[in-house]
Amino acid sequence: MTSLNIVGGGRLGKSVARLAHDSGRYRIGALLCRSQASALVARDFVGAGVALTTLADLPAADITLLAVPDGEIAAVAAELSAARVIAAGSVVCHASGVGEAALLAPLAAQGVHCASLHPAFSFADPARAVDGFAGTRCALEGDAAALPLLQRLAADIGGVPFVLAPGGKAAYHAALSIASNYLVTLHDLASRVAAQAGMTDDIAAAVLGGLMRQTLDNTLALGPAAALTGPIARGDAGTVARHRAVLSTQDDALYCALGQATARLAVDRLSEAQRHVLQMVLGAAEEK
Ligand SMILES: NC(=O)c1ccc[n+]([C@@H]2O[C@H](COP(=O)([O-])OP(=O)(O)OC[C@H]3O[C@@H](n4cnc5c(N)ncnc54)[C@H](OP(=O)(O)O)[C@@H]3O)[C@@H](O)[C@H]2O)c1
Repeated sequence: MTSLNIVGGGRLGKSVARLAHDSGRYRIGALLCRSQASALVARDFVGAGVALTTLADLPAADITLLAVPDGEIAAVAAELSAARVIAAGSVVCHASGVGEAALLAPLAAQGVHCASLHPAFSFADPARAVDGFAGTRCALEGDAAALPLLQRLAADIGGVPFVLAPGGKAAYHAALSIASNYLVTLHDLASRVAAQAGMTDDIAAAVLGGLMRQTLDNTLALGPAAALTGPIARGDAGTVARHRAVLSTQDDALYCALGQATARLAVDRLSEAQRHVLQMVLGAAEEK
């Protein structure tokens, strides 16, 4: 049985602890929060472990997961190192998407195997998270000696682990943010422009929702270049100009920036003349 401590029994911490406990392969040692009330809530949710608030009281464990907010990770690692409660040869990981294992440097200097384990999943509500976690990709990065235990932990809680190259966390997290957050931003932009056309919210949601789902399926199945359709892929600069004429200055700037990237994606399908005209039509956002 592998022993697991959780420092930070919030949304991610208590979800991972519960999944690990339910797998029957982990003994949950401590669930540590800043407040005793949070630690007790976490312990009740997990159904195992001791509720703690003092890092120096942590019991020994094979793995200690720091599931505290990103801005707290380095300070908690420094405090754990000063308290000398983590044994050399054991594993400590944090769950930040963008932070590297290097955030845990004071512990690594004491012979602790340090890494990061980031599930690409939204733990908005722990009860729902536990039900929906299966199949989640989990990015691992850090000390090679920590990886086998963390790969097993990720798999035991229902995830699918993969290892990131050193130095890859910022680009990894940027990619996730673009795929998730900017998709929402594009939906918002399209909805606002649809409202300009006098479409009701219901109609706009149905039309844009259907098209966005179909396009997402296409690009995931075919790849971006093959999935691209529309005026830019056809080299239809006249349509692009008509779009631009109805957009606000702010929306137009975004339309042109994305349009230029779209034209680069379509480059193999455009003639030299089409490329040139599109460049002229899309390149003049600042002159509007
Ligand atoms: N939530 C997600 O969807 C998600 C997804 C992937 C990765 N992550 C990563 O997971 C980590 C935790 O995020 P979260 O959303 O689970 O945070 P959260 O819900 O805000 O929970 C944070 C927990 O950390 C405790 N805490 C805060 N500062 C502490 C300190 N100095 N010492 C001990 N405990 C401390 C808090 O205790 P109190 O309640 O007593 O304040 C709370 O239990 C972050 O690195 C985040 O980037 C989160």
